[in-house]
Amino acid sequence: MADRGIARAFVVGHPIAHSRSPLIHGYWLETLGIPGSYERIDVHPDSIGRFLAGLPRSGFAGGNVTIPHKEAAHRAADRLDEAAELIGAANTLWLEEGRLAAGNTDAYGFAANLDAEAPHWRKGRTALVLGAGGAARAVLFALKEAGFGDIRLVNRTLSRARELADRFGAGISAHGWEAAGALAADADILVNTTSLGMGGEGAPPVEVALLPDGAIVTDIVYVPLETPLLAAARGRGLRAVDGLGMLLHQAAPGFERWFGTRPEVTPALRGRIVADLEAHK
Ligand code: ATR
Repeated sequence: MADRGIARAFVVGHPIAHSRSPLIHGYWLETLGIPGSYERIDVHPDSIGRFLAGLPRSGFAGGNVTIPHKEAAHRAADRLDEAAELIGAANTLWLEEGRLAAGNTDAYGFAANLDAEAPHWRKGRTALVLGAGGAARAVLFALKEAGFGDIRLVNRTLSRARELADRFGAGISAHGWEAAGALAADADILVNTTSLGMGGEGAPPVEVALLPDGAIVTDIVYVPLETPLLAAARGRGLRAVDGLGMLLHQAAPGFERWFGTRPEVTPALRGRIVADLEAHK
């Protein structure tokens, strides 16, 4: 937190108008009575290097980084936390002794959401992960940290799944889509990290009927909250956890760094964001 005056934080992306982060941090600032600010900043990819290099002298305590700048933030930082280092992308920035520090709280957000909504997920050992993009990296980090020893990574483009399996080391196997059904039969958790289901369109080609009773199904997509995959899981009697909680929980560590208080993810906060999602359908 800044020593003097009002702490200021930001979210930087391109485009940035759609970001819900200002609503989340604004809610916490307001309800905790903290006189800080959190603003949206649109920075073109051509200028992100300059923006990041200028942060130590900007007056900002730090901020969030979103698409397409997470890799640039990882590259620009003087210090990285363990998650950002392994994931290869950073979503949270702060200053340490005048130097730019970067972390990745997406894996924390993924785990904290499941801790809140399906705490028995930590007893699982076998996971089926769909997709091998940026979001999959955070999910793999969280699953490994939670002790999953058999993680099956399924992707349309097999080479991308192989790359991630190599990066994250032992316990992760890479497969093409056609293998998903067979790999589902003894999975404790199914995680969709692909964009399939966004806007209610399409669903990953995995039959939830093939999952064992007691499996958890979660999606990082949160528009709509109930994706076709989650609806199918619920229909099958499985525990289904939506992706909004991950977004809310990933925000908390940054807020604490910039404003000095650890905020809580409450039903009221969730309600505020759900109302905004509904209003912008
Ligand atoms: P993010 O960083 O949000 O994860 P990304 O890096 O573009 O986004 O990754 C998107 C993921 O969704 C990828 O795993 C992608 O599969 P490919 O690696 O084969 O491209 C997956 N995906 C997107 N559209 C898809 C589709 N129509 N069918 C199957 N997979 C799809």
